[in-house]
Amino acid sequence: MTVSVRIDQASVEATDLPLMSVRSVSKFYGQRIGCADVDFDIWPGEVLAIVGESGSGKTTLLNCISTRLTPTAGTVSYRMRDGEMRDLYGLGEAERRLLLRTDWGFVHQNPADGLRMTVSAGANVGERLMAVGDRHYGKIRATATDWLGRVEIDADRIDDQPRAFSGGMRQRLQIARNLVTAPRLVFMDEPTGGLDVSVQARLLDLLRGLVHDLGLAVIIVTHDLAVARLLSHRMMVMKDGRVIEHGLTDRLLDDPQAPYTQLLVSSILQV
Ligand SMILES: Nc1ncnc2c1ncn2[C@@H]1O[C@H](COP(=O)(O)OP(=O)(O)OP(=O)(O)O)[C@@H](O)[C@H]1O
Ligand SMILES: [Mg+2]
Repeated sequence: MTVSVRIDQASVEATDLPLMSVRSVSKFYGQRIGCADVDFDIWPGEVLAIVGESGSGKTTLLNCISTRLTPTAGTVSYRMRDGEMRDLYGLGEAERRLLLRTDWGFVHQNPADGLRMTVSAGANVGERLMAVGDRHYGKIRATATDWLGRVEIDADRIDDQPRAFSGGMRQRLQIARNLVTAPRLVFMDEPTGGLDVSVQARLLDLLRGLVHDLGLAVIIVTHDLAVARLLSHRMMVMKDGRVIEHGLTDRLLDDPQAPYTQLLVSSILQV
């Protein structure tokens, strides 16, 4: 009896508290604003889309909160697997690298930035498993094969290098490589950006299924409102480095409040 009460409390706590809290994050490149005064929280299992025109600061913000870039000001705290909230910029280099390799995923717009192009597809996926301590070759290969299947890459391509893959296949491989360690938070920067429209649609479908099945928290940067509509629960709209509107995706797209968001939404509808 006591035990079940404890478990309930633990699970309530896990979902009631944010996974990541971003406070007053700013990044300046000399005099130029990259992003300014950004605040938000993300909860476990939630998909947050960051949208805005080119140069609005989306990539800068994503890089700051994933520790790829050090902000000029502000704090980012993250709930570690032991439940403790930690300041990301206070982590030691080893802790930070471990987070990046295990608890987090980062899906780049250009798959070549997120893959090792000269090792096999199987090794690209297996490498992340080894980073979390898997050593058994047969098991690693079996898991890699399973993941290739989940991203619709034929098992007989496992020994091919990604440079022998099409753009869409490379992107699916990058997704498999990132998700195989069951990360809790995945950052994505325009993951469908470089692909043609029909390939994009299939990839989005696949991503939506995986995100839902795995209960992942995702922070996805896109300039495409249709991508945000399809994948995200919440949206932040950026302009000139600042967040100008933030809310539930359906509410924001159906009833935008800020004039700039109204313009964005109406220009899409006219197309
Ligand atoms: N390394 C850098 N040095 C100087 N300025 C930079 C650098 N990176 C970005 N900026 C500037 O910061 C601002 C935001 O750029 P950022 O790349 O974050 O925009 P974005 O919203 O990701 O755009 P896009 O949709 O084109 O990828 C822009 O004015 C850009 O010129
Ligand atoms: Mg960008």
